[in-house]
Amino acid sequence: MNQEELFKKLIAHAKEYGYIFPSSEIYDGLSAVYDYGQYGAELKSNIKRYWWEAMVRLNENIVGIDAAIFMHPRTWEASGHVGAFNDPLIDNKDSKKRYRADVLLEEHIAKLEEKVEKEVEKGRKKFGDAFDEAQFRATNPNVQRSAAKLDEVRRRMVEALTKNDLEALRQLIVDCEIACPISGTRSWTEVRQFNLMFETKIGSVSDESSTLYLRPETAQGIFVNFLNVQKTGRMKIPFGIAQIGKAFRNEIVARQFIFRMREFEQMEMQFFVRPGEEMKWYEYWKAARLKWHQSLGMGDDSYRYHDHDKLAHYANAACDIEFHFPFGFKELEGIHSRTDFDLGNHQKFSGRKLQYFDPETNESYVPYVVETSVGVDRLVLSVLASSYCEEKVQKDGEEGGERVVLRIPAPIAPVKLAVLPLVKKDGLPEKAREILAGLKYDFNCQYDEKDSIGKRYRRQDAIGTPFCITVDHQSLEDSTVTIRYRDSMEQERVAVEALRGIMDEKVSLRSLLSRL
Ligand code: GAP
Repeated sequence: MNQEELFKKLIAHAKEYGYIFPSSEIYDGLSAVYDYGQYGAELKSNIKRYWWEAMVRLNENIVGIDAAIFMHPRTWEASGHVGAFNDPLIDNKDSKKRYRADVLLEEHIAKLEEKVEKEVEKGRKKFGDAFDEAQFRATNPNVQRSAAKLDEVRRRMVEALTKNDLEALRQLIVDCEIACPISGTRSWTEVRQFNLMFETKIGSVSDESSTLYLRPETAQGIFVNFLNVQKTGRMKIPFGIAQIGKAFRNEIVARQFIFRMREFEQMEMQFFVRPGEEMKWYEYWKAARLKWHQSLGMGDDSYRYHDHDKLAHYANAACDIEFHFPFGFKELEGIHSRTDFDLGNHQKFSGRKLQYFDPETNESYVPYVVETSVGVDRLVLSVLASSYCEEKVQKDGEEGGERVVLRIPAPIAPVKLAVLPLVKKDGLPEKAREILAGLKYDFNCQYDEKDSIGKRYRRQDAIGTPFCITVDHQSLEDSTVTIRYRDSMEQERVAVEALRGIMDEKVSLRSLLSRL
């Protein structure tokens, strides 16, 4: 199955099995807005809990807050979002479709990169064991030509974006002969800037002063509370403030399911440090966050760093942790060294001092900030994409045929275990219910007695339940049950009284947290 097919199947599966639905679907949905169903909501909540515990519980110097979505409108002037939170847009005159100019160019760059890699692969096949990749890249004329073109396009794009030169951006699209994927023509409008913030009104008076924005990032709720938290928590630098919450962006290129949404959720942590020490902490958080992702067990090769060519208005260093989604490596999390830009500007715009007195150096200063920022929805997508698996069943004791299984890591799986009486008679349902009653306070459990045991296993596989507890006639005699493992389909007989301990060890977040 190719990646495009996999992605389509994943979206259909997520809907069919109660993970993710298009928002307000009975009215034909709302573009780039999605609702989480019963299993999606559990998965999301488990991921958030894992992040929160890794950040707030494991780090003595990090605390968590929950700031309001509405903020004073001056916040967004100070943060630079009113002036600079823009996407450069371009329209194709024939298809009337609108695109982000930078995205069109990035896609063009990706194609050139692909061309280079194909050429290298050709060389590898041709020369076999004698292939010297470094030498080939340095000397092959086709590779050299494509690489030079690539560097030139990238250089011009970064320059145009940095200087905010919209004409240069348009010219580059024309020079690269980029065509609209819908109409196939190269008939482009001018490039215009478009602010991504959603506006709304507060109160009943509709003048300028009542305009509010839905926050485009949660970070600003942390910055404006910096002194509140520092003073009330008696925090000493370096320290961090973490937050999970909704953010809103009027995204233009809203595609790829829950990858780019207009309403989404972020988990952000701002780490306040001494000026001059930010690079040390930037490297520290880059490594710590990659380790957190890898601890989920979805394959270390599924992640890579991508250092930014063009820095955001607030950063002096920035990098993405990218994940190998079905549509290629894309940003999952951003790590940014934000300098004193935000606190410094809030100090200017609010007229309030936002400084820290450092008892070790006897100095007051505006702290520098290193930020980690990850989208919950992208994490959900990364987990679903790497968990989805179609396979043939050839296992003793299981009905043959095919199964679709979500191999979600047990500690974040929505349902941890299902208790299944082998048949719906002979006192087995009663015994199963008794076992469930003893487990439901600790784990998210399901009870299912409908259909054959094989069909019930398939249903649990499809929603990613890692363990099925089967109650059979022997259970009535010696109070033992079988645990059926989702991934291997192996079965193991254990005593009912040992179940809680066994399950706890397998599904507790402890197993993930202790790997950090
Ligand atoms: N405070 C910094 C900040 O917001 P960002 O790179 O714009 O930085 C951080 O966003 C993370 O938020 C991204 O890495 C991504 O995971 C998530 N994110 C951003 N825009 C998103 C969108 N439209 N839909 C889903 N997730 C998004």
